[in-house]
Amino acid sequence: MKLCMIGTGYVGLVSGVCFADLGNNVICVDKDQQKINSLKKGKIPIYEPGLEELVLKNYKNKRLDFSTDLEVSVKKSDIIFICVGTPTKKGGSSADLSQVYNVAKHISKSINKFKIIITKSTVPVTTGDEIEKIIGKKNKKKNFSIVSNPEFLREGEAIRDFIYPDRVVVGTNEVRSNKILKTLYSPLISKGAQYLNTSRRAAELIKYASNAFLATKVTFINELANLCEKTDINIEDISIGMGLDKRIGSRFLRAGPAYGGSCFPKDTKAIINTAERFKTSLSVIKSVIKSNENRSNLLLNRVKNLLKNRIKNKNICFLGVTFKANTDDMRDSSSLSMIPELSKKGAKVNYYDPTGSKSELNKYKNVSYKQNIKDAIKKSDLIIIHTEWNDFKSINFKTFIKGKKPIILDMRNIYSPSKMKQQGFKYFGIGR
Ligand code: UGA
Repeated sequence: MKLCMIGTGYVGLVSGVCFADLGNNVICVDKDQQKINSLKKGKIPIYEPGLEELVLKNYKNKRLDFSTDLEVSVKKSDIIFICVGTPTKKGGSSADLSQVYNVAKHISKSINKFKIIITKSTVPVTTGDEIEKIIGKKNKKKNFSIVSNPEFLREGEAIRDFIYPDRVVVGTNEVRSNKILKTLYSPLISKGAQYLNTSRRAAELIKYASNAFLATKVTFINELANLCEKTDINIEDISIGMGLDKRIGSRFLRAGPAYGGSCFPKDTKAIINTAERFKTSLSVIKSVIKSNENRSNLLLNRVKNLLKNRIKNKNICFLGVTFKANTDDMRDSSSLSMIPELSKKGAKVNYYDPTGSKSELNKYKNVSYKQNIKDAIKKSDLIIIHTEWNDFKSINFKTFIKGKKPIILDMRNIYSPSKMKQQGFKYFGIGR
């Protein structure tokens, strides 16, 4: 099939490359000429394991192409995926849909035969209805079909998640479009993915509801971790004990810092906003947002207590600053709430991240990037393990640290408390 992905961010690029790898002809479109030039040279703008190899392979095989010309690319294609960003509106909580609607206007000028137009971007309920109106202004209804097909890719695991999804959700009441999409996804269905055809609005809501539910699960276990710290219980036992109940499931029950990233914070706010538009209150999700916002303060207080309230001139090391491992994404990372506050209080913060230094942290006083773990932890009073990269899972702290032993706050519960204590470290985890 001939596909066009509009927007070469996370969703568009990963989905486009994977569709090409399944044998389709894919054009990935972006208005950023520099990005398109780099992609043609095999340079990938994001860190995602395995993506570069797939881009090079499919570009070489001519199944994948890149372009800045949206209208020509749409004309050449049968299925158009809208994959542009839907960030939170500045100063508000609703999703900013200006890019989506702008793309829809361009598509409406290029409908030369029947086309399926799909929103893969996360868009609030009724966005499909609006796109239908925009495209319907210039085109006959029989020439296009608007479908919602949300993505459920995790950063860092995106290729695996694309090839082996739990489910493929396709929101359309039109038999013809459903049939075409079922054929497009048939290689994944034959590997075990569930195919679910729903109404378009239901598909739009499934995406938000899934992210909000996962954010709730993480927040739930994070709050229980607070209780475990006060009652001398290990949160890991609680996660395992709860997860063994198949109705609950063990995934997304790992306590840690506040959840972050480009999706959970944005999507939880946007679903509340949608509910308010329809005069409904989602009180559970509202408290999840509040609890998560408090979490970075709570962990900052923990840091202050560990340092006996003497932050000034203390050397604090962060291992990992992105919102989670296997990504270079800093969006809504809890490190961005913690590091500025520690810098303000006079701490000297060194950090190391496997994806390099971060411009977001440049403006803060006494915050420096170190090239490796050893340099970052040298002379630290406190080491904070902030993300769960493999690089941080078997650090031999003893060989790196000469002299006074630092306090270690392991926010991902990677190390064994008893082993760390045996080695003479003041070691603390989350909820244990
Ligand atoms: C999330 C969803 O998991 C994807 O299904 C979805 O497609 C994506 O958003 C999106 O909407 O595009 P992602 O933002 O990449 O994916 O990150 P997750 O792996 O879900 O992690 C989100 C946050 O929860 C991170 O801060 C992570 O550290 C935290 N988390 C996750 C925990 O603290 N504990 C856990 O057990 C799991």
